[in-house]
Amino acid sequence: MLSQTKPSLIPMRVGLASPRLPLPSTLVIFGATGDLTQRKLVPSLFDLFCAKRLPDGFTVVGFARREKSHAQFRDEMRAAVDQFSRCKATDNPRWDEFARGIFYLQSEFHDANGYARLAQLLDEIDSTRGTLNNRLFYLAAAPENYALIVAQLGAANLAQTSLTASSVGWRRVIIEKPFGQDLASAVELNHQVLAVLRESQIYRIDHYLGKETVQNLLALRFGNTIFEPLWNRNYIDHVQISAAESVGIEGRGGYFETAGTLRDMVQSHILQLVALTAMEPPVSFDASAVHDEKVKVMRAIRPMPRDEIRTSAIRGQYGAGNQLPGYRAEPRVAPDSGTETYVALRMNIDNWRWAGVPFFIRTGKRLSRRVTEIMIQFKPVPHPLFAQEASQNVEPNVLAVRIQPDEGIHLKFAAKQPGQTTQLRDVRMDFFYKETFGMAPGEAYETLLIDAMRGDSTLFNRRDEVETAWSLVTPILEYWNETPPPVFPNYAAGSWGPAAADELMARSGRRWKEPEPDSP
Ligand code: BG6
Repeated sequence: MLSQTKPSLIPMRVGLASPRLPLPSTLVIFGATGDLTQRKLVPSLFDLFCAKRLPDGFTVVGFARREKSHAQFRDEMRAAVDQFSRCKATDNPRWDEFARGIFYLQSEFHDANGYARLAQLLDEIDSTRGTLNNRLFYLAAAPENYALIVAQLGAANLAQTSLTASSVGWRRVIIEKPFGQDLASAVELNHQVLAVLRESQIYRIDHYLGKETVQNLLALRFGNTIFEPLWNRNYIDHVQISAAESVGIEGRGGYFETAGTLRDMVQSHILQLVALTAMEPPVSFDASAVHDEKVKVMRAIRPMPRDEIRTSAIRGQYGAGNQLPGYRAEPRVAPDSGTETYVALRMNIDNWRWAGVPFFIRTGKRLSRRVTEIMIQFKPVPHPLFAQEASQNVEPNVLAVRIQPDEGIHLKFAAKQPGQTTQLRDVRMDFFYKETFGMAPGEAYETLLIDAMRGDSTLFNRRDEVETAWSLVTPILEYWNETPPPVFPNYAAGSWGPAAADELMARSGRRWKEPEPDSP
């Protein structure tokens, strides 16, 4: 079993760099009683702590509206860690050490007194735990509170940082998605937060960017010689990006009814995957060079005129199927809801590299399998050298980058079958992340929390990126608001989505590829 193999015996793990520790700091989580804190933030922090990747004295302050004591909050976090971390808390002496650095502060988000008490608590923590006046604020509250919280931080003198504060005395703010509800509200929110903070203090998070395999896409493209020369319209027929979830909305009906899949997945995660797949090589891997290239390619995505939205922007909603309830039967969902739980789109990128190469994306809840994959479909060979019967089992080359699960990269190509006759068939070259490195990729939030503590915003979104992404999806949102959805539900839970998504592909003479099988 790989998991039992000693790391030192796995050749590909030899020489793995141990990253530099960030300087001590306090993380304040606004909305600390919510799901994100329990499922992701505190479990990721404890995994980092167990791996000795957090600095001494690192402290967490939960800030939320519910009344509770420090001890109650610590108990809740212990239960969350037991459920969601790799490193468990119960019977683990390291938990007690970590828990000594967890505090709770009850306050309404609009109450100036709460922020004054927070300022006092943070000063005390600095002197007792040596956190060097470094503060990371995490906005994990309901998005309508973001501007208010930032304004209150400013008013309480908690957001100011000196121009030279790169190590001691820094203030940074991580803002969870959704950043806005459409283009106008995102622009407005940017104005509001930039009235208090400098852009360099703002970390707009998209957890997909923290996934190892998403970063691996950059390594694949720009760390190798052989792919980049082929990565363009001369060799690529089209690109398919699928982000399929088998889960439903997991009790988040209230949120999902106002969001829908276009906002929840496409504006953020999917457009990030498109940008990383399609961007030009940055001049370096520093944050602004990477952001510049991502924005450039997003700006080259052709806005969809209404006529095209009608035909090439497909929305779906799941109904009951495979013993699973339909979306409309989920808690806090209207019985006649018109919210989409599935989106498929054809995008065109109007630039030199991608002219004429469509990007097809699809994402949805309650699909038949959980799989996120970027598939690069190459063109057929220019001249068919082999007889048609010899190559009938061969398809043009496919490079599949599996983001999750079973992270890896697969290349499909033609080979001659053994024997006297010339018969070709498809074969695969596989890289499985877990097998090669003997470990599963870490949790995205671990990477992103550490990056923010270090002051590295490469894997976060800059203002113009978020606004450009919204400018692409807002016309679709508006069109969908104005026109009634197709007859919903239009796909069964556990299926591959609505028939209209297959028709979208068929109209261009293509079809959705079945994602690569999981590792043996
Ligand atoms: C979140 C969405 O941002 O991403 C969820 O709000 C979605 O609806 C989730 O399920 C998917 O993330 P992952 O990491 O499970 O692919």
